[in-house]
Amino acid sequence: MKNGMRIILVGYGVVGKGVTAILARRYAEKVKDYGFNPKIVAIADVDGAVINPRGFSPEKLEALKQRRYPTNPISSDPDFGRPGISALEVIESVEAEVVVEVTPVNIKDAEPALSHITTAFKTGKHVVTTNKGPLALAMPALTELADYNHVYLRFSGTVGGGTPMLEFAKRCLAGDKILAIKGILNGTTNYILTEMSQNRVSFQDALANAQKLGYAEREPSMDIDGFDTACKVVILANWIMNRKVTLKDVDRTGIRGVSLEALDQALKSGNTIKLIGSVDGGKPSVKPTEIPKTNPLCVSGVLNAVTFFTEYAGEQTLVGRGAGGMETASAVLRDLLDIRHNLANKMLT
Ligand SMILES: NC(=O)c1ccc[n+]([C@@H]2O[C@H](COP(=O)([O-])OP(=O)(O)OC[C@H]3O[C@@H](n4cnc5c(N)ncnc54)[C@H](OP(=O)(O)O)[C@@H]3O)[C@@H](O)[C@H]2O)c1
Repeated sequence: MKNGMRIILVGYGVVGKGVTAILARRYAEKVKDYGFNPKIVAIADVDGAVINPRGFSPEKLEALKQRRYPTNPISSDPDFGRPGISALEVIESVEAEVVVEVTPVNIKDAEPALSHITTAFKTGKHVVTTNKGPLALAMPALTELADYNHVYLRFSGTVGGGTPMLEFAKRCLAGDKILAIKGILNGTTNYILTEMSQNRVSFQDALANAQKLGYAEREPSMDIDGFDTACKVVILANWIMNRKVTLKDVDRTGIRGVSLEALDQALKSGNTIKLIGSVDGGKPSVKPTEIPKTNPLCVSGVLNAVTFFTEYAGEQTLVGRGAGGMETASAVLRDLLDIRHNLANKMLT
């Protein structure tokens, strides 16, 4: 397949469906503008897969999206369905250049994503993932394993959703030295703190609102106890600051202890309290921090923001939506284009 890139998609939820939608809608344009010809050859979900070695057409991808697990799963497709086959078996047996891994995050043992990624590497496949779990627990080992197997690991959707925070630091600031990074990296906690400070809503009520609006999970600990931000701090520390750290190295405090009184007190000095993830020369940290309301990092609602402190260019702040299915799917497409560009230029970094 000239300029082809065969893709196995593992995980068919919000981001997975976004990836098939964005590839289907922008297919003709990408082929024309970049000579880039991506083909999804398999989609693996929790109960089975669809497999087509020739690649699914944009029309078929749109049709598959109408199927719903568990009543009408993709694996029951009459032409390409493979009920019961596991994602691992698909990764091992289907010929492809890239695995896109978008299964749910798990910060206890990073599974099933960790096995999906390592199996992809061992079978010579590049990996694009939006799953923070494997990176938070094992990023130094995973980047080494990718190098050892001469494949790429890309993960720009893990920090900032569609906002290119990792690429901005890695590419646009390449001529400078990044001394420190500070960011609001979790939209849910930022929404809760914004509600508390602007509308004097209690923590419990703000959390309940966030759950009602779909910003927070029913089990909200990952967000409000700072684990999600800590995972992103680990990724920034390794990828941008060349630190070899994992989740256990992050000094982490969530927002359960932030009171309306503390927010009022901060307001008297023109400040507010935000959950800030930081990386500098010391221990990476996540903690509620008082910052001036005029600080460019001080964004409202579910927005994310990150400031890079550089030796020559000073402070550079990037603001954007930190999540969302299509936003994050656009980061996956960006990573696929990056891999294709590197392969065309035979660079392996
Ligand atoms: N949504 C966002 O805005 C966003 C933004 C940035 C990063 N992310 C990350 O991207 C990843 C995907 O997010 P999402 O929102 O798409 O999650 P999601 O909607 O829960 O989708 C995950 C999919 O993976 C499937 N799955 C579970 N175990 C599997 C297995 N062993 N093999 C194959 N498929 C399996 C799930 O099936 P069941 O539902 O049947 O279990 C589900 O279809 C997560 O790691 C998330 O943290 C998401």
